Amino acid sequence: MTNAGNGADPAVRVAKLGYVQFTTPDVPRLVHYYTTVLDFELVDETPGGAFLTTGFDHHSVVITRGDTRPRSAVGYEVWGSLGNAQRRLREAGYEVERRGDIGPGTPDALVLIEPSTGAPLHLYEAQEPSGVQGYTPLRPTKLGHVAAFTPELDALRKFYEELLGFRWSDTIGDYFVFLRCNADHHAANFLASQKYRGMHHIAYEMRDPAHLLTMLDHLAREGYRLTWGPGRHGPGHNMFTYHKDPDGNTIELFTQLDVMHDEHKGYWEPRPWHESFPMYPRTWEVDIATANSWGPINPELRDH
Ligand SMILES: [Fe+2]
Repeated sequence: MTNAGNGADPAVRVAKLGYVQFTTPDVPRLVHYYTTVLDFELVDETPGGAFLTTGFDHHSVVITRGDTRPRSAVGYEVWGSLGNAQRRLREAGYEVERRGDIGPGTPDALVLIEPSTGAPLHLYEAQEPSGVQGYTPLRPTKLGHVAAFTPELDALRKFYEELLGFRWSDTIGDYFVFLRCNADHHAANFLASQKYRGMHHIAYEMRDPAHLLTMLDHLAREGYRLTWGPGRHGPGHNMFTYHKDPDGNTIELFTQLDVMHDEHKGYWEPRPWHESFPMYPRTWEVDIATANSWGPINPELRDH
């Protein structure tokens, strides 16, 4: 089985989701949330914003001042050279700007506008190291994925597959698509909506269930209550929790996300809760088990 529609020779091959930018009227409040509640490290603060990391990358989150707008930009690390990416994207008819002033850690980047959402996408070859060292019992291991609404789901999926080299992982019903750029089941998810715009949720990975539970007790001490979970999703099979940041943005903390080794052989890292062996990308029914195989659902997070 192959993923029909996946670009065999995309203009760009994204290697990983690098960072997501949040625009907020209250930068110190959101920086406080990320450093004190989620235990991120503040790496740099410039007039352009605050840059925070989970450790590996120079930054995983950028916080800038303005009207509240989550996912106001997305940074992707790419395989190959930026020059090649620039040429191929232009040949495909996309306006691309090469910039050296995006921010610290990414001194050379391409900027293009994401079709149908208008969000700027930043493409770069690599981030500089953050310099952040040391073990911390709380901090998430990495930025996992970000989900957004789009009024044109099919066109945006095609853009991600054919221009950016993403591959299809799963779909729920006819409205919720999960795309990956490496072995992680999803890095970019999109929900079809004529009602909503912008970000649906952003998700940070925890090492294992014990790490997640430790963080939940920390959230409780800080006064943050869950809006959904713990539960286990169908697509991706990640164990999840959701809460809201001080701006009202939905934050997912997850662990045990599916790892897809070989889609042609249907070989995903085996897990006891998988429904089939081999397993292939598929379209899931819109039902409770798909949303949360353990039971409870939050209707707000299914609204689109
Ligand atoms: Fe998620």
